[in-house]
Order: sequence, then structure tokens, then C-alpha cells
Amino acid sequence: MSERAMGRPEDALVGTLPGDAAIGAPVVRSDGLLKVTGAARYAADVPVEGVLQAVLVQSSRAPGRIVHIDSRAASGCAGVVAVLTHENAPRVAEESARSPAGRRLSLLQDDRVHYNGQPIALVVAETLERATDAAQRVTVTYDVGAPRVAIEETGTVSMPPVSVGRPPDSRRGDIDRGLAAADVVITRCYTTPLENHNPLEPHATTALWDGDRLTLYDATQGVVANAATVARILGLPRENVRTIARFIGGGFGCKGNVWSHVILAALAARAVARPVRLVLTRRQMFGPVGARPQTRQTLTLGAARDGTLAVVTHDVVAHTSRVEDYLEPSAMQTRMLYSAPNVATTHRVARLDLGTPTYQRAPGEATGTFALESALDELAEELGMDPLELRRRNHADRDPESGLPWSSKSLRECYAAGAERFGWAGRPRLPGTLRDGDTRIGWGMATAVYPTYRSRAAASVRLTAEATGVVSALVRTASQDIGTGTYTILGQIAAESLGWAAAGVRVEIGDSALPPSPMSGGSMSAASAGSAVREACREARRQLTARGVGDASSLAAFLRTCPDSAFEVIADAVPGAETARYSMHAFGAVFVEARVDARLGEIRLPRIVGAYGVGRVLNARTARSQLIGGIVWGVGMALQEHTVVDRRTGRHLNADLAEYHVPVNADIQEVDVIFVDERDPHVNAVGAKGIGEIGITGVAAAIANAVHHATGVRVRDLPITPDRLLPAHPD
Ligand code: MOS
Repeated sequence: MSERAMGRPEDALVGTLPGDAAIGAPVVRSDGLLKVTGAARYAADVPVEGVLQAVLVQSSRAPGRIVHIDSRAASGCAGVVAVLTHENAPRVAEESARSPAGRRLSLLQDDRVHYNGQPIALVVAETLERATDAAQRVTVTYDVGAPRVAIEETGTVSMPPVSVGRPPDSRRGDIDRGLAAADVVITRCYTTPLENHNPLEPHATTALWDGDRLTLYDATQGVVANAATVARILGLPRENVRTIARFIGGGFGCKGNVWSHVILAALAARAVARPVRLVLTRRQMFGPVGARPQTRQTLTLGAARDGTLAVVTHDVVAHTSRVEDYLEPSAMQTRMLYSAPNVATTHRVARLDLGTPTYQRAPGEATGTFALESALDELAEELGMDPLELRRRNHADRDPESGLPWSSKSLRECYAAGAERFGWAGRPRLPGTLRDGDTRIGWGMATAVYPTYRSRAAASVRLTAEATGVVSALVRTASQDIGTGTYTILGQIAAESLGWAAAGVRVEIGDSALPPSPMSGGSMSAASAGSAVREACREARRQLTARGVGDASSLAAFLRTCPDSAFEVIADAVPGAETARYSMHAFGAVFVEARVDARLGEIRLPRIVGAYGVGRVLNARTARSQLIGGIVWGVGMALQEHTVVDRRTGRHLNADLAEYHVPVNADIQEVDVIFVDERDPHVNAVGAKGIGEIGITGVAAAIANAVHHATGVRVRDLPITPDRLLPAHPD
């Protein structure tokens, strides 16, 4: 690959952190300047000579088959280089079209259409405008049946495969006996709708071939997995594919898999023997690249008069596509969050004529805590108890599912700190008590929780001395920064671990050719890549000490004796036996004030307080930003987000940001994030629990609970729109 064709992405390397940047300090993002000046190049921005533009054509009907697809008009358009359909697309072996996660892609291999919006053709042209115009000239006739697009439209549910390494069903204790002994029993059903990912940066892929070697600039949450998956699907040796993602405009789960468009771009680039760029439109984000599935969750809670939980059952039905079993694991937290002796959970999937759903920020916990934490609020009401007191009474002192001790847990401190800051003690018990003219005011709360994951990772550190004798470090690991601050926190970890050994630290990530590290998902990047960076830096220090190098000036002298005046160390960090000895989770508590206009049903949220125990905070600024982002998404989930699908055609009706509502600045008022002091010696070497996902958990329930406290109206089906709160209208 020539340097010219590569577009020299190295032009935009992120800034250097000072060698005394400490872990925990609110260091400004080292990539911030590049981003605000537009110098940061995302997957669709990397300049590539001779690049062609591709536009995806999607089915407009389903389910069924394509009877006829006519691409002659499109092919005849000026500037069009190729039109791929199932009639002429390069063949891909059936088995290899599945990614490791079981993703079944639409690679133009047959005439089947499983859902409205499925990729059915790809137009490649000299410009985006010509490709877009030609794509609209592809005509298709279908033979299709009526789509089923809502869980209630399908009578059949089935057992999913093992999800997230855990079995779909669980049972401890004796449910019937527990129910018989309980003083109070409630059963409630909650639903959450289809919700689509809307990162600012849509999916985008640029594919360049050099012989049988492929380079991808891809908007991905995992460069290493991306390269490996693409290699396998295309039948290439693993080392022949390199995926680069220096900057990513948000991931949130949808960029955690290789979807059809990535492979189609690579196939097209090979077919036309030129680089090809494929950028999805905002509208195309709805369907072919996953979504949070619809869920229907039924909970039964049984308790003694004093609030002690005797029974919790949580039965989940989540939708999946016709071709693949994706499971939203909404009941997983119910197994471990409270100390109830009798607990049973089930997960089932309902197959619908929609694109395969996928992970979306806190997959499982976001939807599951809405149901569980709403149900607890309903139980508290039934018992005439304070909802926070009910949770305190059922605090789990060890993991009640595994029996293991917690690696650390600060939930009691989170309850106390959040309640204190919010002023929870002044909450009247009865709903509808707090008023301000026509405005009803309510206070609600919920518990937040997310597991602490970690994966094997490797990193290298290279020390070099400038002519002046100043030593700087270059830290490298594949990883990627999906917008969370990974560049910055890895630099802080390196600076602290290197100590005197570096006056400045630069971080290079986002390239599958670098030492491997896992995808940025499951809130595990900091723990995984961070541990590897720490290990590499400490190993460098050990080796220097062994060579008698003990300060900055002897280091500069030593480096001058090294080849290229550089000293490089690579290290691996692997999770150990601690994962079998401790149960590892981050916990938190979120408190919300809702103000509801009694005449209009309009909901405002003047203040939200979230208190979290997340182990060591690596950067007070980016950590706070992550938690606020999660809480803001929780507001969207509670009040706005809902993908509407046409029951006749299966078409996504609100597939843009004008009609798919997410919170804007005017929707968000005071959001107060508290980190309780938590030291966890067991989770990993840096002591950090993940923070990418816990922020959204519990928020929708806290808002629903606050709305109930304000109005007396319990909304069990998200989103909570104003019409749900209007008084019955006199005729
Ligand atoms: Mo996250 S939903 O694990 O990318």
C-alpha cells in the first residue's frame, strides 16, 4: 500500500500528555483539539486517491423474495461503475457469512428479503451524487407476505441460546412456598419499544485492496475483531486485513459488529479494482445495523410486611429477527441485585420480520432495571414504605446468585450520598402531594448496576530521547476511542506508571496492526487496555532498573546506546483467578425530580442526582461526562425514544432525528454526578470498574417512579409521552 493511497492518517496524531499527568486528574482530552478543529479524520474522512462512492439499496417490502430486480437503468447512469445485486455479486461461502457472534449478514447471495430495509443492491459510482441518483433507479418486484413487527403479533416464543455466557433461565429457592408465605404479592408487566442507535457518526467504511491485502477505515468499536471477522468472511489470512479507526463518533453497541455494508464495500472494491467508500445515511441506521429490541417483562414480587423480599420472578420476552437469535438479557441483574431467597428468571425470544437487534448501551440492564426498579416502587407503594428504605432492607451483602463476595460494593454509600444531595428525606410518601400551581411534582429513585468485565489485552511502550535529552514515550495498543476518552486515560495510566521515565506521553490506538486489545464494549476498555498499558510501562521500568538506569539523565544516556535510540517493551495483561473468587459489579443510585403539567401532560426534569461506586476514577472530567451521557440517554429512553414501524409494510416510519426524538439541551437541566470513594483491589491492576454503561441503568425507572409520585399515574410502557398523563377528557 503506497503512502499516498493510505492518505497518511498519521497526519492527525493526538496530542502529547505531560509526563506528570496523574491518574484521576481532570485532564482535558488529548484528542479534543483535533476534534473541534475538524482535523480528526473519521472513517468517511480519510482522503483516498481515486476512491469511488457506494450507496446501499434496501428492500422496501418483506418478508418474502425478490421476483425481479432491474438494475439496467442504474447501470446506464453516467459515472456508475458497478451495480451489485444478488444476481451478480461475488459469492461468499454460506458458513463464513456468520460472524463469531452469529451475525447473519445480507451479502446479496440470494433473493430472500427478511425485513424492510435489508440491503439488496449496492451502486458504485464516481461521485456520491451519481451513486445516490442511480440507486433510486433500481426497480424491484417482490413476492411478500404480511410482516409481523410487534411482539404481541407473534404467538410463538422460543428459548434463546446461552447469552453473555450465562444460561437464559435461572432458579433459586422455592417460588411457590415463598409466595404462600409472603404478606404482599404484586405481578406487573412492563414493555420497552424498539429503539435505534443514533451516534452522531453513522456507520461508514472505506475499503482499499492492494493485491490480496485489504485495508479498511471503518467506524467500528473493535478494530481487531473487525479485521478478523472480515478476513474470515472473505476467506483471507487474518494478517491480510488491517482495520483502522483513529476516531469514532460514538458507538453504543451498533458498531460492535461487522454488519453487511462493511463486507459489501470490500467485495465491491475488489470487483471494481478501486477503493470504495460506503457511508450509511441517517435513515439507513434504522434496520440493517441493529437496534435495541422490544421487550415485554413480567415481574412478580412477594414480600413480608416489613419489606423483606421473599420472591422475585422476572420473565422476559424480547424480539429477534427471523434469521438469528439475539437476546436482550433483561433479567440478569434481577438474579444478583437484591438478597431475596426465592428468585426465578426466564428469557425467551419472539421472531419478527425486522433486522436483527443488537447490543445497545447496557444491553439487558437498561431495559431490565426499568422493569425491576419500577416494580420495586410499586411494591413500596403497596407496603406503604419509602422506596429507598425498601431497597436498603434488601441489600445483598454478597452476590446472592453465585454466593461469592463482592470485589467491592458501595451501594449503601451511593444511596446515602445521592439521597443527601437530593434531599430525599423530605419526600412525602403519598403521590400527588407536591404541587406548584398546575404543576405536579414527584420524586423517584432507582438502583443502577452494571457488571465489571475485562478481557486480555496487549500494549507496547517505546521510549525515545530527543537531541535535547528529553525522553518521550509512545504507547501503542490496538483498542479504539469511541468518544469516551480512551486516548486520554491511557496516556494518564502510562504517565503515572512510567514516572520519571518519560517527560511526555503520546498514545496511538485504533489500528488492528498494533498489539491486540478487545473491542470497546461491555464497559471494559479502560480495565483491559489500561491494564496492558500499565503492565508494559511497569515492565519497561523493571528492565531499566535491572540495567542500572535509575533517573532521567541516565535514561537519556542509555537510550543513545540503543538501536534507533529507542527502547521498546511489549506486555500482555490477562484476567486471572480473581474473576472466580469475586463477583464484580459497579453500583449506583439515581434520584429524579419530575414536574408534570397537569393540563398538558408535559414532563420536565429539573434535577437528577446520580451517585456511583465505580472503583478508581481515571479522569474526573471524562468520567463525569460518561455518566452524564448515560443519564441523558436514560432520559431519552424514559420520555422520547421509540422507533415506529408500519404494521402493513414493516417500514421504519420515524427514521431520522426530526422524528426519532432524543434529548436536546433544552430537555436536560441539572444533572449532578457523585463518585463515592471506592478502592477495589481485585477488579484489575488499575482498579477501575467500567463506566460506559452504568449511567443509563435505573434512569428510566427513576423517572417513571417520579412521574407516578407526581401524578399517581403508573406508566409501564415506555416511552412516557404526555398523552399517557392527560386526565380523561370530558366530551
Ligand atoms: Mo456496548 S452496548 O457493550 O457497545
